Amino acid sequence: MEPADNLGQIAGEVHACKLCRLHVGRKNAVPGEGPANAELLFIGEGPGFHENEQGRPFVGAAGKFLEELLASIGLKREDVFICNVVKCRPPGNRDPQADEIEACSSYLDRQINTINPKAIITLGRFSMARYFPKARISAIHGQAKQVDGRLIVPMYHPAAALHQPSLRQVVMQDFARLPGYLDQVTDISPTTHEPPEDPQQLSLF
Ligand code: URA
Ligand code: SF4
Repeated sequence: MEPADNLGQIAGEVHACKLCRLHVGRKNAVPGEGPANAELLFIGEGPGFHENEQGRPFVGAAGKFLEELLASIGLKREDVFICNVVKCRPPGNRDPQADEIEACSSYLDRQINTINPKAIITLGRFSMARYFPKARISAIHGQAKQVDGRLIVPMYHPAAALHQPSLRQVVMQDFARLPGYLDQVTDISPTTHEPPEDPQQLSLF
């Protein structure tokens, strides 16, 4: 199947999904969106009020800031793939629960495998925890690490920067490092580099 068709198939399954309790209160599931050949894939937490209304990711205040951050490195939201760890809105925007994240994880895994992005940017602690379960975001934000052969860059959630203005500059600076990371990915040929012995520990940059 073509990657775009594959993404469509996954989105169709998400819209019909009842694998966890979050299907009960949803108005619209939010599978995620973006080009099937995106180089960058962003993972947020879960749909909020506006996302649930519209069925699209990051369309509220956090999304506006995400668009500003993308613009600061010359990108538009249409250039990247944007999705979440859970595809349905947790009631009242509560944190997604471990069993909900687990139930939803195969959709995200399949999206990542289909798109095969150069880098994954995690936004906030729930998507960070997929790759760095024990890490503190204050310690590792903005630092690219290779996990299972893929470049992962943990970032603060844009909503955190809206609530805590001092983080705004930090997030801007972390985003400013992304283009440099991508340039280096192109230089890393899988045929000339052995996989790292302990990918969690290896900092590439
Ligand atoms: N916050 C998220 O984590 N995801 C969205 O889609 C919107 C806001
Ligand atoms: Fe299914 Fe994910 Fe929605 Fe739960 S959050 S119902 S697993 S699509």
